Amino acid sequence: MSSPMATDSTKFLLSDLVSSHIKYVPSKYIRPESDRPDQFNVEKSNAAIPVIDLQGLAGANRPQVVEEIGLACQNDGFFQVKNHGIPMDVIEGMLHVAKEFFHLPESERLKSYSDDPKKTTRLSTSFNVKTEKVSNWRDYLRLHCYPLENFADEWPSNPVYFRQVVGEYCKNVRELALKLLEAISESLGLERDYMVKALGKQAQHMAINYYPPCPQPELTYGLPGHKDPNAITILLQDGVSGLQVLRNGKWVAVDPVPATLVINIGDMIQILSNDRFKSVLHRVVVNNTSERISVPTFYCPSPNALIKRAEAVVDEEHPSIYRSFTYAEYYEKFWNQGLQSASCLDMFKLT
Ligand code: OGA
Ligand code: NI
Repeated sequence: MSSPMATDSTKFLLSDLVSSHIKYVPSKYIRPESDRPDQFNVEKSNAAIPVIDLQGLAGANRPQVVEEIGLACQNDGFFQVKNHGIPMDVIEGMLHVAKEFFHLPESERLKSYSDDPKKTTRLSTSFNVKTEKVSNWRDYLRLHCYPLENFADEWPSNPVYFRQVVGEYCKNVRELALKLLEAISESLGLERDYMVKALGKQAQHMAINYYPPCPQPELTYGLPGHKDPNAITILLQDGVSGLQVLRNGKWVAVDPVPATLVINIGDMIQILSNDRFKSVLHRVVVNNTSERISVPTFYCPSPNALIKRAEAVVDEEHPSIYRSFTYAEYYEKFWNQGLQSASCLDMFKLT
């Protein structure tokens, strides 16, 4: 199918619905009362999410930094990093071009539209419009980014420098992902290259999330509570808050800190570590004044990588928890079951 034509009554994208200045959230976005962003259950301070300075990873302090990363993966599943090595102009360029893309005319954006999760480049809305019952207050552009030369030609060519700017960001994020995977391997007592090898040829996907302002943010989510299925996620957010992480039964806001990136452990590292490290529930709330842009990079195994716990983390006290599977099998379950707090992890447990 060529790109769809939208009429006033059927908008493919949320951003085009919102640009007509709606005052109420349409019914398909309204969550049941038992499943709304409950403000009373939100911890205001973000002190709970550790900030780790990666400067020391290259020098004599490496063991301490590796230990900090290991503790964060074990206790929080989330941490923030500073001195991560990605230049500020690369970060600012990425956020700038993301905003420009979502501000393009509807007809221009719709050239990238698809509701097929199997497509390697696509603009869509909510999460999986084919399977979900309630919609989420989000549009997103999803891109495959590694190897870059296999995919960049499919990416949008408007704005004209989109491919160059996003490509530069992707290369930098990959470097950071590899550094983190080395530190994570070491913190589990494994060879430095253990995780990278376990992920096979590796894949890198990116979402550019666009959350428009919402007239009734208490009724809906940008993204409901979910766990990421991949190995690790590296999140760049603009200056607007929205991300919350579940910690001890409370949602903790991870407010943006300039020049800092948010890292979280995905389901694959939880499984490879045999539950030593945690893939943690997180969600996105929206607000009625500001649009928000976030750019998560999902660093993944290749589809045919056989995922199983590292032998060295298993002993009599810590028997194997999950069966082995290919990442393709896991990923398909993730997209089909929809975002929900019962993550796919349970489906892969040994009985
Ligand atoms: C995601 C996600 C967080 C955010 O896309 O999986 O958790 O702040 N995004 O947009
Ligand atoms: Ni996520």
